Amino acid sequence: MRPLPPDPPAAPRDPPRVSSIPSPALGPAPSGGGPPDVWSDRLAFLLGFVRHPREVGSVIPSSGWLERRLVRTARLSEAKVVVELGPGTGGTTRAFLRTMRPEARLLAIELSDEFHARLRSTVRDPRLIVQHGSAERIGEFLAEHQLPAADVVISGIPFSTMPVEVGERIAAAVATSLAPGGRFVAYQVRAHVARRTTPVMGTPTCEWEFRNIPPMQVFTWTRPAA
Ligand SMILES: C[S@@+](CC[C@H](N)C(=O)[O-])C[C@H]1O[C@@H](n2cnc3c(N)ncnc32)[C@H](O)[C@@H]1O
Repeated sequence: MRPLPPDPPAAPRDPPRVSSIPSPALGPAPSGGGPPDVWSDRLAFLLGFVRHPREVGSVIPSSGWLERRLVRTARLSEAKVVVELGPGTGGTTRAFLRTMRPEARLLAIELSDEFHARLRSTVRDPRLIVQHGSAERIGEFLAEHQLPAADVVISGIPFSTMPVEVGERIAAAVATSLAPGGRFVAYQVRAHVARRTTPVMGTPTCEWEFRNIPPMQVFTWTRPAA
């Protein structure tokens, strides 16, 4: 990877500590949602892109190949608190829930009104919290839902088309919302996310998923264990 510009590091702040994770509300057994309507999801995704091209950043959702790589790279089967930034129509969300433990929680933060409403009605799982708003507010949303610092944050939001200062705020919010030893996994066509995040979290590892359309880079940062 090309060397990244030497921006000054922002001082990480520790997230609020919560002594225990509230249990998922009693309800149907964790399922990752019912069988998804793939074509309806794809159409909704495409319409979302037409309405908000810069925020959505892609015309089709992530492939199963990329979903499985994210699950492995993030080590989701070991995580208790997972945050997804930009769940979109929920394909990645369902894939994460299929792997996550029964007592784990997934906080999915989505900026788009339409995707947020769709996700709430199509993916039902007692482990899932669907939050409307910007990824810049991760820390606030974790506290609001009485969740401790995240073991994993996974992001598909397009850093290449957002203002630099928004990307920097999101990177700083991720860095301060991760538990010691926690992982930030970001999948992107371009490397803008690495330019924003490296100043606050150090150099990432990077692998490619060439079977996705388009081929995708998967960047991973690990917060040092305390
Ligand atoms: C490329 S789509 C990824 C969708 C899905 N996770 C996937 O991989 O198929 C990017 C998503 O990020 C959302 N998004 C963009 N900026 C955001 C922000 N600041 N906070 C939260 N979500 C955001 C978009 O609305 C969109 O749903």
